[in-house]
Amino acid sequence: MGDLRMMHQTNIPGLHKYLTGFENYSRSLPFYIDNLFSESERSELRELIETNRLIEPFIIGDRIEDGYIRNSEFRSRYQPKIAKNMSRTLIEFDMPKHLEDKLDQIAKPLYNDEIALCHWNYIDYNIKHGYGDNSPALPPHLDADENLVTINYCLDTNVEWDLYVSNWNDTKNFTKYSLGAGETIVFSAVNQIHWRPKRKFAEGEFCEIISMDYCRTNSYRFTGELNPIDPEHFPDRRKQYLDELQSREDMMSAFKLWNDDGLKDGIEAKSMG
Ligand SMILES: [Fe+2]
Repeated sequence: MGDLRMMHQTNIPGLHKYLTGFENYSRSLPFYIDNLFSESERSELRELIETNRLIEPFIIGDRIEDGYIRNSEFRSRYQPKIAKNMSRTLIEFDMPKHLEDKLDQIAKPLYNDEIALCHWNYIDYNIKHGYGDNSPALPPHLDADENLVTINYCLDTNVEWDLYVSNWNDTKNFTKYSLGAGETIVFSAVNQIHWRPKRKFAEGEFCEIISMDYCRTNSYRFTGELNPIDPEHFPDRRKQYLDELQSREDMMSAFKLWNDDGLKDGIEAKSMG
């Protein structure tokens, strides 16, 4: 990795920021949290999400190679974003201060630097958000943002759809975690490869997650700078970053497992679910 890092610093400044490593954490991840939100806090979040769900959506189609077709005009970050190729809808909302305080108490002690809640959204995986013939999908990936601590809360679900996360300090091996309704898991989305297995969803099946990310307070997300691998502003850097990720041994192991598990369930390698 040493040589690669040197190359990044020379050719694509900023990229090395994403190879953050495990050394600044106070404990290994993932771990579960019991009863993150009370019943009334859960209702509060539900109401915020359902209010924003009524906003006219921003639809992302993705049936072409290399890029995506945007079928509707982007007006505000609160518009639900429908990713048809993944059969999922993302909804942003304002995080109530008292809930952010609660999240801070969990996330901040985990990292030995100044971090803060930088991004959060609700994700609804449901075949109804797709083309009608594609199941929800979350292939193996590392987040392309420096999400040092990620808190995933399952708002509700009626399916068993485990989350795979690479082991702490051993990213070539993976453990699966169930995440039922009301359960919470904490991991590092920029350091730990994560995915959900290919799964054929039936009509009416769904999985709703609220994902909450912490990054350094000097991150571009707080300073207003551009993401150094923003796909629209720096497509070449982004491609180089993704190409390098795909050639990592741990990422290849993850994709092999994702594909092999899918094949066992009769889902062909080229299909996402
Ligand atoms: Fe992720």
